[in-house]
Amino acid sequence: MRKWLAKQRAKGVLLNTFKIAEIGVQGRERFIYPQIHDIAFNYDDKTLRYVFTLPNGVDPKLIRKKEYVFRQVFGKNIRIQGDLKRFSLTIFAGELPKKVTYNYADILAVIKRDELIVPIVAGRSREGELCLYDATNAPNLLIFGEPGSGKSSTLHSIVSTLIQRYTAEEMHFYMADFKMSELNVYEQVPHVKSISYLAKDLAPALEHLKRELERRGELLKAHKVRHVNKLPAEVKRDCPYIMLVIDEFVMIRDKEIMAQLLQIASLGRAYGIYAILSMQRPSHSILSTDVRGMLSVRMGFRTVDLRNALMGETPGAEQISKDQPGKFILNRDELTELRAPYLDEDAVERILAKYKTDYWRNHSFSSMSTNSEGDTEVPTITQEVFDDVID
Ligand SMILES: Nc1ncnc2c1ncn2[C@@H]1O[C@H](COP(=O)(O)OP(=O)(O)OP(=O)(O)O)[C@@H](O)[C@H]1O
Ligand SMILES: [Mg+2]
Repeated sequence: MRKWLAKQRAKGVLLNTFKIAEIGVQGRERFIYPQIHDIAFNYDDKTLRYVFTLPNGVDPKLIRKKEYVFRQVFGKNIRIQGDLKRFSLTIFAGELPKKVTYNYADILAVIKRDELIVPIVAGRSREGELCLYDATNAPNLLIFGEPGSGKSSTLHSIVSTLIQRYTAEEMHFYMADFKMSELNVYEQVPHVKSISYLAKDLAPALEHLKRELERRGELLKAHKVRHVNKLPAEVKRDCPYIMLVIDEFVMIRDKEIMAQLLQIASLGRAYGIYAILSMQRPSHSILSTDVRGMLSVRMGFRTVDLRNALMGETPGAEQISKDQPGKFILNRDELTELRAPYLDEDAVERILAKYKTDYWRNHSFSSMSTNSEGDTEVPTITQEVFDDVID
């Protein structure tokens, strides 16, 4: 009985909202409002969810246009989904979890449930749901936010998840850490093929990846398929997933290296090569329209102002306060506010300990030497060393 009453009351509130917002069409006798089909309270995640359909003749864009009325009535924490006739409205009474501890078992459960191939850990939502997405559908990620907002911690949870998910034969990493402070924990992990600490050291790694793109391109052509995942098993074995991870990529001042990086990222999807780039401020000079289109997934941690948040296309990131590290806005199809799982360096160290080997070699060089002709090509020794990565 109490439930029934609560539902009636909730129904009344939504009907009233349609009236205020003037959402509906004039029928012969009366004004027809959308029909409310379902009202569901979820006490676990503290949400109220309505499902309603628009009468024929109502422009569905009106719902977006009048979203502010829904916010005025139900508060800011709402989500409206739908396209033509059928919509759902979810009202969140719950808060974002204050802290989310990294837990691989929970993450693995979602990976298996959603059959994610290259799982990227994002965070927990207000509904308490752990959100991950598949990089095979959205290959390149840009993480940005002010110092101390949680970028590196997120990078750690993404990378250490992939290391636990795949063997060193199945997944390779090429990393760059120009701050020389965050990614050195990955040294000695066999999945990690190189870690560059200076922009110029990244050049041979990129050169290698470009050749790898070409090699894979030939394989796709020879086997008449459009994605490495479609290659015959014995060929696919030689095409591990490749993840390029660059912390503070704006520190690449060299235009050529930057261009090469972006070229690899833009071609990578079909070849199983993915990129994760992080930066503090989404700068206009780097995020040209092309680059933005290519880095289609964004994680916007705290930004200094609205302009920066808009530059990264995560409006709302400017409202995240300093004392909320790990909170961010994920821009992927739609905007979702999430809390990243927290993984500090000690915890990463503990996860990685069982993978580390003494035989590890950093396939990165402190300088690019010039060859006898004097042009700055990748020295042959680099090629040899990189070739044994492929073997
Ligand atoms: N998901 C999280 N939940 C709670 N606290 C977090 C989270 N991520 C980071 N923190 C806190 O914020 C601090 C800074 O995080 P982190 O080093 O990841 O920031 P950053 O964005 O990489 O900063 P910088 O730009 O200086 O490298 C951490 O030491 C930790 O105390
Ligand atoms: Mg950092």
